[in-house]
Amino acid sequence: MKLGSSRLTILLSVAALPVLLVACSRSANEKQAANVQSVPAAASLTTATPQPADLNSTQPSKQASRIRKGALLYAESGCTNCHFIGDKGGSIGTNLNNEGTRGHNLGWQIAHLENPQSKVPGSKMPSYQSLGLHKLRDIALYLNSLGVKGSHLSASLPPVLSPAQSAAAVVKLGARLYAANACANCHKLDGQGGISAPDLTNEAQRGRSIKWLVHLFMHPQTNTPGSTMPSFNSIGTVNLRTLALYMNTLGVKKHASAPNTQVK
Ligand code: HEC
Ligand code: HEC
Repeated sequence: MKLGSSRLTILLSVAALPVLLVACSRSANEKQAANVQSVPAAASLTTATPQPADLNSTQPSKQASRIRKGALLYAESGCTNCHFIGDKGGSIGTNLNNEGTRGHNLGWQIAHLENPQSKVPGSKMPSYQSLGLHKLRDIALYLNSLGVKGSHLSASLPPVLSPAQSAAAVVKLGARLYAANACANCHKLDGQGGISAPDLTNEAQRGRSIKWLVHLFMHPQTNTPGSTMPSFNSIGTVNLRTLALYMNTLGVKKHASAPNTQVK
């Protein structure tokens, strides 16, 4: 809800800006008329989604730098685990090489990134709502440049991350996968979640290996006969590994930054 209202404010202020600029250059009574007109105009813009035309509305140089930021955010957010761009990536999600030609406007892209299941029921893609509208817009601009003729081709491939950036990306995506797969229905983490399964707040301290954890996620019943934990095979081994790596950060460096579902 917090994001919803700030998004509304951004849209409202963007929508009101040209009206205000015009209004300032007019006489007092014309100004009044302009203000009256601005009400339905602003209201209708809040429901309208940004159109692909927005792609061309910013200066080309600014545009290119936002697309580059989007490409970096794509890499940092672990999208590569599931999606293919260029000749690298996973196959759980759609191949995005020609995403810009599929006809999804920026509004659709942002809404899908915020809540994939609202656009594609049952989607296995995690929510990226916590990144905030500004970053989601950069990612959406990047997505809508992919495969489009005349787009900034040099920015098409997501950048290669440093080892430290990759490690951070794994933890963030792990937390998102934890939320997207409703692990909290059964498990408690940092005081939040269910009580029918072991508390995972200090899971790293149990000393489980990545191999052990991945095997558990695939076949919970062979680890613990009769376990109520479902198999998470369907999200693919790359993502199960990411979840396992995330598990092994839980309870380590507690005060530094306890990972939770509020991933940035
Ligand atoms: C855990 C796997 C996973 C991750 C991580 C993931 N996605 Fe997805 N994505 C999917 C799946 C599955 C679909 C197909 C269902 C759907 O559209 O939601 C999809 C669909 C999409 C689509 C729609 C493609 C189309 O035109 O139909 C876009 C765009 C997209 N993802 C972008 C991203 C971006 C950007 C990120 C990172 C910020 C990301 N995804 C992270 C799994 C993932
Ligand atoms: C329907 C309830 C349920 C869901 C959903 C669930 N689990 Fe579990 N989980 C359990 C139960 C019960 C156990 C204990 C028995 C066992 O090991 O299978 C367990 C055990 C575990 C363990 C082993 C703890 C240890 O070291 O002994 C980990 C790690 C774990 N779950 C992580 C997850 C993750 C991550 C998710 C989401 C992807 C998840 N669980 C979803 C019920 C659940």
